Amino acid sequence: MERIDKIIASQGKFSRSEVKKLVKDGRVTLDGAVIKSSDIKADPNINDIAIDGKSIGYKKHLYLMLNKPQGVVSATEDTDHKTVIDLVPKEFKRDGLFPAGRLDGDTVGFVLITDDGDFAHRILSPKNHIMKTYHATLQRPVTDEDIEAFKKGVELKDGTLCLEAQVRALDSDKPMAEIKICEGKYHQVKRMFAALGNKVVFLKRVKMGELSLDESLEEGQCREITPEELRLIQTKD
Ligand code: URA
Repeated sequence: MERIDKIIASQGKFSRSEVKKLVKDGRVTLDGAVIKSSDIKADPNINDIAIDGKSIGYKKHLYLMLNKPQGVVSATEDTDHKTVIDLVPKEFKRDGLFPAGRLDGDTVGFVLITDDGDFAHRILSPKNHIMKTYHATLQRPVTDEDIEAFKKGVELKDGTLCLEAQVRALDSDKPMAEIKICEGKYHQVKRMFAALGNKVVFLKRVKMGELSLDESLEEGQCREITPEELRLIQTKD
């Protein structure tokens, strides 16, 4: 049970003081009855809380899929650059949103934004073997040796050992490859190819777990992830 003003404010649309005013104006109902005080407690999973007769559609956590453009940083705040949180539309804004896993400034594609720390930890922990899939344009095509090296675990130039991963060529003419990794070391894909004498020219994350980036999302756009899609993210390879 939680205070009703806190519950409504947690959904992002109204501040605590705005909620207090809504209550004072008799616009908030709890299971159909107008409430007179904002310190009334309720269970948002059981009780129906409505404003002007419309249910607030309580969600404990929010999960968003963003198609990140280049030049936007995977952080919650930055003094010099636009962040992925700046791209979240007003309707989805709430406290505590953060990117679950980082993409470099020049990497584009699937960024999951949430306020659910446990979920983020689960999908990012290498122990859980949830694969992140990237498409890369490279300086030269992948070789059979590269494929073997990825399978064994690439040793980065600084001696760091990566877990086993996968790479395959995407095109017989162009040096394009698909990479699957379950960790998120700093600049990992770029450093893996650098260790193999290759270079990443362009990088896009296209999938998390078994959930593909929605290609109907323009760069910079985001949308909510459905419960079924959330299950796909947690599907191991
Ligand atoms: N690997 C990289 O090198 N960069 C990213 O943004 C993501 C994975």
